[in-house]
Amino acid sequence: MNILVTAGPTREFMDPVRYLSNRSSGKMGYAVARQALARGHAVRLVSGPVTLPPPTGASVSRVTSAEEMLAATQEGLAWCQVLIMVAAVADWRPASISSSKLKKEGMPSMLPLERTPDILSRLAADKGSRCFVGFAAETDDAERHARAKLAAKQLDLIVMNDVSRADAGFEADTNQVSFFSADGAFQALPLMSKDEVADRIVAWVEAFPHDGL
Ligand code: CTP
Repeated sequence: MNILVTAGPTREFMDPVRYLSNRSSGKMGYAVARQALARGHAVRLVSGPVTLPPPTGASVSRVTSAEEMLAATQEGLAWCQVLIMVAAVADWRPASISSSKLKKEGMPSMLPLERTPDILSRLAADKGSRCFVGFAAETDDAERHARAKLAAKQLDLIVMNDVSRADAGFEADTNQVSFFSADGAFQALPLMSKDEVADRIVAWVEAFPHDGL
């Protein structure tokens, strides 16, 4: 299959030296790309800024902002049968970007923000028979939020992880996730390496009924 994977954070600049972002290391998304390749799939990886080596055999598009990630993911959509959105897209960006460094004397104490595009929601209209997988990074009331995102973003599977745990989520090499699928099924996986989690995700996608494949 052709699998499009997004990974890493996005950065939303306010001037040439400052940005809003999040703690995503890209490890989970890169693990998904590697495992998909290892299982014989073609992989395109849309990556935010991370320090990881590119997975051998993947075609990699490097992006910085949510807007750039949307454009690169939209471009890859026609090619893929499966989209796995692991990226931790910044939800907000400064309402304007200054082309010169803002001096501290002139900086406002409140920063006007605007929403970035919700990539999965924007792509939902063109989903067709593709399989869409999302992640839900949660700290509270995780199951309720994950199920709400599964429905709102028209996903086939959402992989929920509790990012308040030190051994799961951001920067860790291990993760403890639960799968919620659109057919109502629920599966809590034990703590395992991100490579093993990635392997389970790709196996789930392979078992998903794909039209015309
Ligand atoms: N996502 C996206 N576009 C965004 C934000 C998130 O496509 N602007 C995707 C993520 O890649 C992930 C899923 O949506 O697969 C859920 O992301 P998450 O950050 O958990 O949820 P949000 O929709 O951002 O909601 P909130 O921040 O309120 O929890």
